[in-house]
Amino acid sequence: MSEPVAHTVLVNGERHTVTVQPDMPLLWVLREVLQLPGTRFGCGMALCGTCTVWLDGVPSRACVLPVGRVGTRPVVTIEGLHAAWHSPELVRVTRAVEAAWTDGNVAQCGYCQSGQVMTAVALLRDQPAPNDADIDRAFDGVLCRCGTAPRVRAAVRAAARTAATDSLKTDTPSSST
Ligand code: FES
Ligand code: FES
Repeated sequence: MSEPVAHTVLVNGERHTVTVQPDMPLLWVLREVLQLPGTRFGCGMALCGTCTVWLDGVPSRACVLPVGRVGTRPVVTIEGLHAAWHSPELVRVTRAVEAAWTDGNVAQCGYCQSGQVMTAVALLRDQPAPNDADIDRAFDGVLCRCGTAPRVRAAVRAAARTAATDSLKTDTPSSST
């Protein structure tokens, strides 16, 4: 077993120095050391997507990511989605996803939902108008034991429409000026 060493990680815009074994999964650093419990443990084998966070903006499975390999690449968790430093576009997408999740009553037990939301926001950030194949690809391996997958997909499509409409409103110059 490796000895604990100091690692500096950049999580939700803040630097933290944690002294843990280099092979400790990022998930446990987030949950147990940094007290960010929004990212959940499911399978521990990169099979379910419950632990999805963004590493350098890319949805990544924190359960199989040794903290020693993270370095200072930015990590964003569900707790960091509302950080003030996100771009206006990302804020718009995040709000649209949250509204669609609420309007569509997507969550059931809620256990998998932080992984679903992190996946949805990343998808719409990168592909504002995804087709069904794009959505299936993004959510491949992001599972829900409660069977919410159809509602997740419907909510992603609804969020894409809302974000596009909000974008048009923002981009259109006011007629009163
Ligand atoms: S807990 Fe990480 S993919 Fe299942
Ligand atoms: S909402 Fe229960 S596991 Fe997905």
